[in-house]
Amino acid sequence: MNVFQIAAIPGDGIGKETVAAGREVLDTLCEVHGGLRLEYLDLDWSCEYYLKHGRMMPENGLDTLRSCASIYLGAVGFPGVPDHVSLWGLLLPIRRTFQQYINLRPVKLLPGVRTPLADKKPEDIDFLVVRENNEGEYSNMGGRLYPGTAQEVVVQNTVFTRFGVERVIRYAFELARKTGRGKVSSATKSNGINFTMPFWDEVFKEVSLEYPEITTNQFHIDALCARFVTHPQDFDVVVGSNLFGDILTDLGPAIAGSIGVAPSANINPQKEYPSMFEPVHGSAPDIAGKGIANPMGQIWCGAMMLDHLGYAEGGELVMQALTDTLAAGTTTADIGGNANTRQVTDAVCERIKALAGAARN
Ligand code: NAI
Ligand code: MG
Repeated sequence: MNVFQIAAIPGDGIGKETVAAGREVLDTLCEVHGGLRLEYLDLDWSCEYYLKHGRMMPENGLDTLRSCASIYLGAVGFPGVPDHVSLWGLLLPIRRTFQQYINLRPVKLLPGVRTPLADKKPEDIDFLVVRENNEGEYSNMGGRLYPGTAQEVVVQNTVFTRFGVERVIRYAFELARKTGRGKVSSATKSNGINFTMPFWDEVFKEVSLEYPEITTNQFHIDALCARFVTHPQDFDVVVGSNLFGDILTDLGPAIAGSIGVAPSANINPQKEYPSMFEPVHGSAPDIAGKGIANPMGQIWCGAMMLDHLGYAEGGELVMQALTDTLAAGTTTADIGGNANTRQVTDAVCERIKALAGAARN
């Protein structure tokens, strides 16, 4: 029996509902698997916690997380607490301290989900976006001189290191190799941003030489955004800097249908530190507490976590159950169904048991 300790941070709003749902699915998977157990460390870090304690997590919060195998997060954010507080007080320290330099977001149109793109089918939208998650344009370096005056000067620095650029690009190629995807596309803007982006392109070219079997191409970020909409079928793996990746990782889920289904992983590939798995959606205060949130993004993250922990087959089983549940029409209102969180969760769990039973017989 392999036992992993998972830090569970439901956070705010629907995060509490989706993490509970995701855990039920993971526990069901462990039950049918037999050789795997997840033990949860329940952490109430959130905006609610901030309002009580004046901080998003305790002073030794990062030490608490360090010993866990992974972090399973819902969403943080609540009206009354500024978004930069929740971001800089919890998510960014976790992503940076634990060198989660990869933000991985699969963009896949699942059956039964409607894409806003006319005439595109599930086989047309199926690619992986890899975003640099630790440096680049979000470097927290810069300043303001003479604020509020006519002489005001504002500078924000972008920081690209060879180490940082190389490792994210190499990850994208390794991912293409591992998943049997034949192409890596790079997001650039070397015409307008004339120091960092030509450097990014150089490193992309250098690294690509180590992967002769993988086709490459590159697009300026503006053209790339347009191609996500006009030619999503052309992409396999897409890699971009922190800012470009941020833009692409919102556009991707948007073309793949509902934000309620989209997953995201913040990965430390060396497994030196815990990685963090969270849905793309936020805390959705407008529907929180009603029991109607779509748990599928959270469940999909759980499948990615299983994969990261070395249980790829378990992750695939969860994804099969999720896909079957969608195809059977058991879905929440955001994707046109009339089931609630409970019903979708139960349906996925039942399907896991049925698939596992069928595999055994
Ligand atoms: P949101 O993703 O929470 O909601 C946007 C819209 O989508 C809402 O109408 C919501 O009801 C709907 N929605 C989102 N997830 C859903 C789900 N699973 N099922 C059904 N419907 C769903 O984004 P919003 O409203 O901009 O942000 C709300 C709060 O969440 C803010 O405080 C924001 O800072 C925070 N946030 C946190 C994130 C995180 O923890 N990583 C990411 C995005 C936002
Ligand atoms: Mg974003």
